[in-house]
Amino acid sequence: MTKTPLLAFALCAGQLASLGRAQEVVGGPAVVNLGPRTATVIWLVSDSQSTLGESPSGLSLSARTVQVRKTVYTGLKAGTTYYYSTPAGKGHFKTPPAPTSAKTSTDAAPAFTFVVYGDVRTRDDVHAQVIARAQKSDPDFVLHTGDLVADGADTALWPKFFQIEAPLLSKTAFYPSLGNHEKNDPQFYEFLDVKNGYYSFNYGNAHFSVLNTDIRNAGQGTEAQDRYWKEQVAWLEQDLIRNQGADFRFVAGHHPPFTAVSNRQGDNAHMTALVPMMEKYKVTAMLNGHDHNYQRFEKQGIQYITTGGGGAPLYNVDMPPAYITRKVEKTENFVRIRVVGKRAVGEALGIDGRVIDSFEFKAGQ
Ligand SMILES: [Fe+2]
Repeated sequence: MTKTPLLAFALCAGQLASLGRAQEVVGGPAVVNLGPRTATVIWLVSDSQSTLGESPSGLSLSARTVQVRKTVYTGLKAGTTYYYSTPAGKGHFKTPPAPTSAKTSTDAAPAFTFVVYGDVRTRDDVHAQVIARAQKSDPDFVLHTGDLVADGADTALWPKFFQIEAPLLSKTAFYPSLGNHEKNDPQFYEFLDVKNGYYSFNYGNAHFSVLNTDIRNAGQGTEAQDRYWKEQVAWLEQDLIRNQGADFRFVAGHHPPFTAVSNRQGDNAHMTALVPMMEKYKVTAMLNGHDHNYQRFEKQGIQYITTGGGGAPLYNVDMPPAYITRKVEKTENFVRIRVVGKRAVGEALGIDGRVIDSFEFKAGQ
């Protein structure tokens, strides 16, 4: 009678030991959910794999299991560089400076740099070049405009994404948004520790609202999708109202409201319908992806930037909208924005370091 629990313990310990031996790191490290006083360090591990085939003797496909590992830190100091060590490697990041507002910020407010890119799927070599080039900007954080992988439901694609991004993400913080290729899959939320499809954060004197523009995958049926979008738009309006004191307001998300791609004209009516809200609440710029190229439009003083040239096959820019087009180019790219007090300057850069476009934002515009 007394031997059973001991046997169970022995088996359990044996299984744990074998799991420990088999476990390997398959992605990371990266830092997500960064705030002035909190940060989450994540990495991916695998402890086994499955094989698959069309006959019992022909198991030609194999894929590793993937689990996220994370540690949440709180009580951090604002505006401070922290160094960390994980089984996936070492890294560092900087917490945002303490929040400021239009009333208190000055030109001497802490400067910061962030990079924006998206649609990094499919051409891994291009994705790696974007990461290598973005690294040279030493950004304080990365804002991803969506389509991280070709299929968010495919487990094997996520370690590859993390491995390609690791040289950059181990030195900064990461704020992702959902693209249509993520398919709103639970793995996006799990592996990146995302709590909700839309969220916002502050970085110094700037406010960022990150949207889930992929409403087709946000619910079953048009009624549920419409409800989701309505709730999100109501949240966005409140978020913008609450942050009118920020010097800069950026709204990010995958689908753009305007496009120079002829066969995509009018595709995203839900995004175009947001334009009056952007104007009403003096949004500095909207940052999008989805179109695999670079596009910048300006309407009523608001910039609309599409940076979707991170690796997915390029699209033509063959129908630039009249009056609002500032620059469009069919090329791989990422965007770097540097905020210095009441002024921000941005550049679209190619993977060869070429400056594709440059622009400027002024506080409160
Ligand atoms: Fe997309």
